[in-house]
Amino acid sequence: MPELQRLRLDHAPALLAFEKENRAYFAASIPDRGDDYFARFDERHAALLAEQETGACHFHVLVDDGGAVVGRVNLVDVADGSAELGYRIAESAAGRGLATSAVRRICDLSATEYGLTGLWAVTTLDNAGSRAVLARTGFVAVGETVLDGRPGLRYERSLGPVSFPGSGDDRRV
Ligand SMILES: CC(C)(COP(=O)(O)OP(=O)(O)OC[C@H]1O[C@@H](n2cnc3c(N)ncnc32)[C@H](O)[C@@H]1OP(=O)(O)O)[C@@H](O)C(=O)NCCC(=O)NCCS
Repeated sequence: MPELQRLRLDHAPALLAFEKENRAYFAASIPDRGDDYFARFDERHAALLAEQETGACHFHVLVDDGGAVVGRVNLVDVADGSAELGYRIAESAAGRGLATSAVRRICDLSATEYGLTGLWAVTTLDNAGSRAVLARTGFVAVGETVLDGRPGLRYERSLGPVSFPGSGDDRRV
């Protein structure tokens, strides 16, 4: 099982290889990063790490036994106890539950390490894989949105204790 690691400077070569190998695959469901991203990858990587240092973002990669990056799961725009979740998994590792297990782990980390109380995510209506991941990890669709010019949904997940309607009903006992 690949290991979830917080993004570091030395992940750069494996991360670039992952982005290059899966560029066409990702572009089929989410916007392409553009040629400039690949040409200036090291600069961008350093900028992301600097942003992570401020606490505004938490970036993670999934690293397999051979050191290859097979996925990334990110939390961005941390504010007021919540953050936006995003993820992408390599085509070669798809369909094995990796996104589902990584998002579950990120939810745990968000509550225990990052002090967050909620996460949110957006995906397009036609991204069945992403919607399945969010539904299985406790996210709830809360409204429609437009994402990159396409119809989408906004999902939210509370990280606090689960509350059940009626649990505070003092008539019961
Ligand atoms: C979406 C994505 C992250 C799913 O990663 P994954 O590791 O394959 O996901 P999981 O294995 O945890 O699969 C979750 C469920 O979604 C289902 N699923 C995956 N891709 C699907 C698709 N294209 N259509 C329908 N269902 C799909 C899986 O079958 C699985 O359900 P099951 O176990 O009941 O079969 C991956 O396909 C990806 O990176 N896509 C490109 C980037 C992207 O869309 N990111 C999300 C942006 S919002």
